[in-house]
Amino acid sequence: MSKFVLKNGEVASGKGVEMRDVYVEDGKIVEAGPDFEVIDCSGKVILPGVIDAHVHFREPGHDYKEDWETGSAAAVAGGVTTVLDMPNNNPPTATVASLEAKRELIAGRAYCNYGLYLLYDGENIEEIKAAEGICAVKTYCANSTGDMGIGPEKIEKIIERAPRSLPLVFHCEDEGCIEGKAAEYLAEGVAPASVHSKIRAPECALMMVERVCKLAKKHQRKVHIAHASTDAEMDVIEEYREWVTCEVTPHHLLFSDDDYEYLDNFIKVNPPVRERGDIFGLWKHLKMGNVDILATDHAPHTLEEKEESYGRAPSGMPGVQYLLPIFLNAVNDEGLQLEELVRLGCENPARLFNLQGKGFLEPGYDADIVVVDMEKEHKVARADVLSKCGWSPYEDMAFKGWPVLTFVGGEKVFEDGKVVGEKVGKEVLKY
Ligand code: NCD
Ligand code: ZN
Repeated sequence: MSKFVLKNGEVASGKGVEMRDVYVEDGKIVEAGPDFEVIDCSGKVILPGVIDAHVHFREPGHDYKEDWETGSAAAVAGGVTTVLDMPNNNPPTATVASLEAKRELIAGRAYCNYGLYLLYDGENIEEIKAAEGICAVKTYCANSTGDMGIGPEKIEKIIERAPRSLPLVFHCEDEGCIEGKAAEYLAEGVAPASVHSKIRAPECALMMVERVCKLAKKHQRKVHIAHASTDAEMDVIEEYREWVTCEVTPHHLLFSDDDYEYLDNFIKVNPPVRERGDIFGLWKHLKMGNVDILATDHAPHTLEEKEESYGRAPSGMPGVQYLLPIFLNAVNDEGLQLEELVRLGCENPARLFNLQGKGFLEPGYDADIVVVDMEKEHKVARADVLSKCGWSPYEDMAFKGWPVLTFVGGEKVFEDGKVVGEKVGKEVLKY
């Protein structure tokens, strides 16, 4: 294992940016000392590796869309050193046995570190209690890819009965609301992709966010709302702040329903992209400090699947490779500060999911590090995409600010545009 020092770079944390050297030995950040190999980072910015708390790497069951080798390669190429992987697999990760099988399947195949979610299927509280080392529990309040929605009456049970130390993550949309709109908008058969934003309407998400927030308060139990997508949801979350944390995705901050015109089903996603006003609303709340974390909901589907008709095309889009460039670009545009980005992308997810040794570049922490070139400009091209799905909704968008070097546990895994080295990713440990 290597022993090195990143010299002459600016190191960013949630508190600010300072010129200092980062010493690494045996996979950890250490205090300064002699005999460290020097890696010159002049002109570069050094950040803690990004933690993407919402990805779908599709194993087991859908490895034709993504697998751990391709998904984790895309992650480290984007400066993401830890991912938390969702349980809507086939079979679903809803039991201790399926969790152990998934662990076996991933071991030795990931460039990045990972944590695994368990699914709450409405019936499996005992399995959830018995599952060791999971990063969180995921509850689908409505159907999405995999049809794992549980309906409103079972939601209270998980909030009441899950171990208190376990983060509970909710996909908040109301199935009844969606079904009503679907009947209305699909009555005539063929529909364009843009109808997705009308069917899975803002009020369908809002009513479920309200419900989950109220239950959290009632049971004095913290919950986490995945992919808040509207200004109105953020207002409600703010009202229940004591009991609620939330995430926002890059696609809800970048795309609106105007973009169906050229991206069609490629931006079909649950919850859907919203009106342009909601983009401003989400950015407003983000700048006010009301958003806890950024997460991609990296949900790859093949080109062929996305080219189907609206009704047949699956929901979800890949994102893990471009999370950091998108927000470094925002830093360059002065829409975001580096310290905000480190809080949203590194420190807060580490804290929220109790991840041991993650999120900070301080002695004793894991040497998960990304070196970025704030001056590098590059237009996303299909040929760069490392996700197995082979496309990106960000194609042809130019971003300024890119990762150039990524370390996972002190090992180099990405350098100058190429994934290098070994698959050194490990499952995260929890505090
Ligand atoms: C996700 C997927 O494809 O797994 N799709 C999506 O539109 N977000 C499922 C999900 O998280 O809802
Ligand atoms: Zn998801």
